Amino acid sequence: MGGTMNNLAATLAPSATALRKIAGIPIAVLTAYDYPGARLLEEAGIDWVLVGDSLGMVVLGYPDTTSVTLSDMVHHTAAVARGLSHTPLIADLPIGTYNTAEAAVKSARELLKAGAHAVKLEGGISHCTQIAALSAAGIPIMGHIGMLPQSVREEGGYKIKGKTPEQGDALVADALAVEAAGAFSMVVELVHADTARRIQTAVRIPTIGIGAGQHCDGQVLVTHDLVGAFPWFRPKFVLPVASVGESIRTAVQQWAAALKEGKVTKSE
Ligand code: KIV
Repeated sequence: MGGTMNNLAATLAPSATALRKIAGIPIAVLTAYDYPGARLLEEAGIDWVLVGDSLGMVVLGYPDTTSVTLSDMVHHTAAVARGLSHTPLIADLPIGTYNTAEAAVKSARELLKAGAHAVKLEGGISHCTQIAALSAAGIPIMGHIGMLPQSVREEGGYKIKGKTPEQGDALVADALAVEAAGAFSMVVELVHADTARRIQTAVRIPTIGIGAGQHCDGQVLVTHDLVGAFPWFRPKFVLPVASVGESIRTAVQQWAAALKEGKVTKSE
C-alpha cells in the first residue's frame, strides 16, 4: 500500500507529467467525493481523480465552494482513497487553509494523511510562495488559474477570463510562475480558448482545462455535471452523457408506486 502510494505520487512529479504532455494523449480527470464514486471512476480507467471543493455544491448543498472546510475535505478524501487502488488522487485545499506557506504545508499534510497523493490550490503569481513551499516539502502540487471559484463572491460570478490580449498576457505570466514554483500540472478554468492555447504552449507541464476549450493537455469535469447527477444546475460548457438524477427519480417513483400497489416483495 505505502509502496503503491509512493509510486503514484512519483507519477505526479513535474518531470513525469511533462513527459505525459509530450506524449500528447489527453489526460482525463474527474471528481469524486465518496467511495462508490471513486471506485466507479477507477474501474472506468480515469487518469486522475480529484476530490474537488465542488464538494460544497454537489454533495453538501452550499451555493459555492466558500463554506468547505479542511475537515470536510479530509473526511471525503479518506472515503475516496478507500475506493482507489492504483489511481492518483488529488485533493483541493479549501479556502482559508493556505494563506501562508506554513499553513499550506500543514493543511496539505492533513490531506495526504487522509490518502491524497497531491493537493491543488487556486491562484497564480499571488500563490507561488505557497506552491514553492509545498514543492520543497515534497508534496506534489497542482495549480489552478483563470476563474477561481473560491473568489466567486469577490468576482460577482463565474466569468470567462483571458478575453483580451492583456488579460491573456497576465494568465500566461501566472501559468509560467506556477510552473516555475514547482507545480506538476495546472487547472485552467473558464479561460478563453485562444488564451488557453497560449498557456498550453507556454508551459512544459500539462494544462487541464475546464470550460477553456480544446487546447489543453487534458480536461477535468465535475462528475455530477457529466452524468447528470446534479440536475438542478449544469455549467453551459458541459454536455451530459447520462441522466443519473432522472434515473434515480424514476426508480424511486416506480418502487414507491409498486409498494403502494402491494407489488414489492424483494425488500421484505
Ligand atoms: O472543485 C473542483 O471540482 C474543481 C474542478 C472542477 C477543477 O476545482
